[in-house]
Amino acid sequence: MSHEIDALKSQALAELSGSLNMDALRDLEIRYLGKKGLVAGLMAHMRDLPNEQKPAFGQQVNDLKNLLQDKVAALREDLKSVTLLEEVNDPWFDPSLPGTPEPRGALHPLTAMAEEVEGIFRRMGFIVPDYPEAESEFFNFEALNIPGDHPARDMQDTFWLKDGNLLRTHTSPGQVRAMREFAPPFKAIFPGKVYRYEALDASHEHTFHQVEGLLIDREVSVGNLIHSMRVLLSEIFRRDVKIRLRPGYFPFVEPGFELDFECSVCGGTGCSVCKYSGWVELLPCGLVHPNVLRAGGLDPAEWSGWAFGLGLSRLVMMKYRIDDIRHLMGGDLRFLRQFA
Ligand code: PHE
Repeated sequence: MSHEIDALKSQALAELSGSLNMDALRDLEIRYLGKKGLVAGLMAHMRDLPNEQKPAFGQQVNDLKNLLQDKVAALREDLKSVTLLEEVNDPWFDPSLPGTPEPRGALHPLTAMAEEVEGIFRRMGFIVPDYPEAESEFFNFEALNIPGDHPARDMQDTFWLKDGNLLRTHTSPGQVRAMREFAPPFKAIFPGKVYRYEALDASHEHTFHQVEGLLIDREVSVGNLIHSMRVLLSEIFRRDVKIRLRPGYFPFVEPGFELDFECSVCGGTGCSVCKYSGWVELLPCGLVHPNVLRAGGLDPAEWSGWAFGLGLSRLVMMKYRIDDIRHLMGGDLRFLRQFA
């Protein structure tokens, strides 16, 4: 029987040593090595052999198959380089022509801005912990001095989860988590997504981004706070920006402030983003309320702090003059490609 194997082998090798192009090689490969090819056909003879000869025969057919596979692969590589050489030597081939550029991705503007803000704060010695988006009522409200019957709960309409937890309505719950996690004094920022169940318009989206900042130390004052916010904004905008400070009410700070930024979408003349006021609320802030320090396990007689909640989505809108917040999370590639 093995003479049939030998015969097929010499036949195949002879064909392989003839001059072949890619197509012919492919045909040959199918003819010999395909599922119904000549090598597979040899196996049909197995039936007629006495049992004791079967293993040796099978082994020989396998050897032939491996040999031919190797030869075909090697030849294919050779042909490839020959083809390439031919193409390169073709007088019509011009290697100086530009190629077809691959489309490139880019960071989402929110991600880019979050990374920039993170960089600024890291250089100033802030740590950047990460806190959960699905939060407990305790951390989102109670620990922040907002008890159940407090009218301030209505300030932020909440997506409640079936298990009694909620989607955090702000990044402030991280304040108490950070106080429990790190020994004072410390300074931290925590950027992230927040969620509010509200009517959508050019300046309101159900999902948006904030960066919370928290500094805990002894004898922190309003002077410290205002100075730090000024440094922050000048670092972020790298230019003189027009800001205005107003008292603002948040149950977890005392005193509290609203820091407004002259609307750069309209240059202060009024548009849908600034609700035609010329100013955008960008940086609510204040000194940490004693009840919040207590919830974080700190003694207000010894420790104090400031906190801010930077509106990252608004910041991106101000920087790129985006006139509708819904573009940010809308996922429209025509919008996103502009940042590539
Ligand atoms: N968490 C508040 C909000 O989202 C903002 C804030 C943060 C205010 C920190 C003061 C201090 O509305």
